[in-house]
Amino acid sequence: MNTPRAPLIVVGAGIAGLSAALAAAPHPVLLLSRTRPVRDVSNDAATALAQGGIAAALAATDSAAAHGEDTLIAGAHHNDREAVRYLCGQAPHAIDWLRQLGVDFDCIGDSDGLDLGREGGHRCARIVHAGGDATGARVLAALGERVRAARHVQWRCGVEVDGLLMRGDVVAGVRVRTAQGQEQCLTGSAVVIATGGIGGLFAATTNPMSAQGRGLALALAAQAVLRDPEFVQFHPTALDVPGRVQLPLLTEALRGAGARLCDRHGRALMQGVHQDSDLAPRDVVARTVSAALRDGRGAFLHCAGLSIDWARAFPTVFAHCRAQGLDPRTQPLPIQPAVHFHMGGIDVDLDGHSSVPGLYAVGEVACNGVHGANRLASNSLLEGVVFGRRVGAHAAVAGAPQIANPARHTLWIAGAGPSLTHNRLNWLQRCLGDVLGPVRVHARIVATRKRIAADPELARSSQGRVALAMLDAAAARRDSLGAHHWSSVTVPESVDAVIRKRDVAEAGASMSGA
Ligand code: SIN
Repeated sequence: MNTPRAPLIVVGAGIAGLSAALAAAPHPVLLLSRTRPVRDVSNDAATALAQGGIAAALAATDSAAAHGEDTLIAGAHHNDREAVRYLCGQAPHAIDWLRQLGVDFDCIGDSDGLDLGREGGHRCARIVHAGGDATGARVLAALGERVRAARHVQWRCGVEVDGLLMRGDVVAGVRVRTAQGQEQCLTGSAVVIATGGIGGLFAATTNPMSAQGRGLALALAAQAVLRDPEFVQFHPTALDVPGRVQLPLLTEALRGAGARLCDRHGRALMQGVHQDSDLAPRDVVARTVSAALRDGRGAFLHCAGLSIDWARAFPTVFAHCRAQGLDPRTQPLPIQPAVHFHMGGIDVDLDGHSSVPGLYAVGEVACNGVHGANRLASNSLLEGVVFGRRVGAHAAVAGAPQIANPARHTLWIAGAGPSLTHNRLNWLQRCLGDVLGPVRVHARIVATRKRIAADPELARSSQGRVALAMLDAAAARRDSLGAHHWSSVTVPESVDAVIRKRDVAEAGASMSGA
């Protein structure tokens, strides 16, 4: 009788996790997620919110090499060149694969020709979309359907992975907490972490609120090495909705279609800042928008007068604006930069191996160096598909290294750490939003680090551990590079003083409102 093979455990059901699960066939996969995409539209995968499309050199005049060069320029040449070559070379195949799975990409008129859009940092039109700005949701739906139908995948949703099961120093499985609060240990042939990013640790983000670096906390608990965690990408055009942490995205494709960034007097913000003006790389635009807000000039996206078919091309943006009582066809849209993507992550090679045997990572939680110091627009869904497939196929076959005498090694749990209460999380979000923003001040980073490390509840929490790793890396990087940018101005006030003042002001405001 055949003994059943231990499954490959994949944690996370965004584009990278689902692609990895499919590619692992015929090896059995246990896919773990908090929610189930497709049926639950408000699921916690950032993929579902992705409006930008997927970059691929498909035009006759384009090439994978040109796509690669744009990726390197955006990444400040901090990228792993082999990862970039693989990503851009595989991009057209990834589009074909997704089409075969049923993703209906937007075409020109009634033809079969894909309608290619342009976004910041791309020298030409090379972005494919599905359902206009609903690309992420459409791709997730198609992948989710395939995974549900796949016989090799068992999909358990409604569980939170809060620890890695270790045999000695090899990852042997995970510990999950069910919706009813029960803990269970699940063993596997290896574990692939695909849990997404860290936007939920900041005061303004386009990510789902659940993106609080849980995968990084798991990796840190198992002593895995992180790479470049200081590189955080701010999207320059989140719709400014007062009082909210998670902000609706106003896709860069709007600027590709002619929308302009202006101050409150209608003066162009990007003029004279960069040769590509409104379509300059994202870090440049985010810093300019941030400066305009700081100086009181205001920052707005002007879409009025553009010949845009809103219902076809930007239904998601249109719905977000209308929900806020704004009409993008006639009114300037107030914007602010918001955390959008984490270039850093668990240090992995191109097959997803982390520094800990048996632990793999892929997608935003991982860092194989493909994005360098700043990700090029529409390369993230692409990364999820291309490396998701590669890592899933590889991990299924390679698994974890065999341990000679398993019984001699004790099993233990590398726990991610408890989650913060709402109020503490709120405090952390404001701190990180302040000190790890588009423009950074060294002394403030150091002061924040000190304050978190001295607070046992914060320091041992899952979110606090990740914050400390990011702050340490930011403090250690002495030069500005890509999304990590030092202010030339010294801010004399310590972060403690700033926070104390703010706390006092807020306490005053809530007293007077009470
Ligand atoms: C956008 O639609 O502006 C975001 C695209 C991306 O992050 O790649």
